[in-house]
Amino acid sequence: MSPEFSENTKKKVDEILSRYTRKEAAILPVLHLTQQEFGCISSDEEKMVAKLLGVKPIKVREVVTFYTMLNREPTGKYHIQVCSNLSCTLLGSENLTDYLKEKLGVELGETTKDKKFTLSTVECLGACEQAPCMMVNFDYYGDLNEKKIDEILDKLK
Ligand code: FES
Repeated sequence: MSPEFSENTKKKVDEILSRYTRKEAAILPVLHLTQQEFGCISSDEEKMVAKLLGVKPIKVREVVTFYTMLNREPTGKYHIQVCSNLSCTLLGSENLTDYLKEKLGVELGETTKDKKFTLSTVECLGACEQAPCMMVNFDYYGDLNEKKIDEILDKLK
């Protein structure tokens, strides 16, 4: 059975679509709503969005796989994304990623058994002046070290 938006989300989608002359231009906000509603954007949700916007499913797949904030698999309650680009790597993000793997007991791309944390790496978060940095869902954390990571995770439990 193909997924369907809830009535509440349908209203939000209609409101978003009303702002654009071409439905396709609304692809990002519609995908954000899709992820909010279903927890991730699998092939079924991609097809649903493609139909809604009148585009081919491959067009939706291209967008979903380009943006790291859009997930094709379900994530934990908190999605930790550690920057692995140049500035952050030079200032120790690889070691911090290893620290997080050890602390959470997961490898990159995995979710903890309690479904609380998913760990992954991303390209530059655009906050190089705060390297090394990471995002947890939509919040940025910079100038990281092991102690700061401990404090951040403690607050999320
Ligand atoms: Fe990490 Fe730019 S390299 S934020």
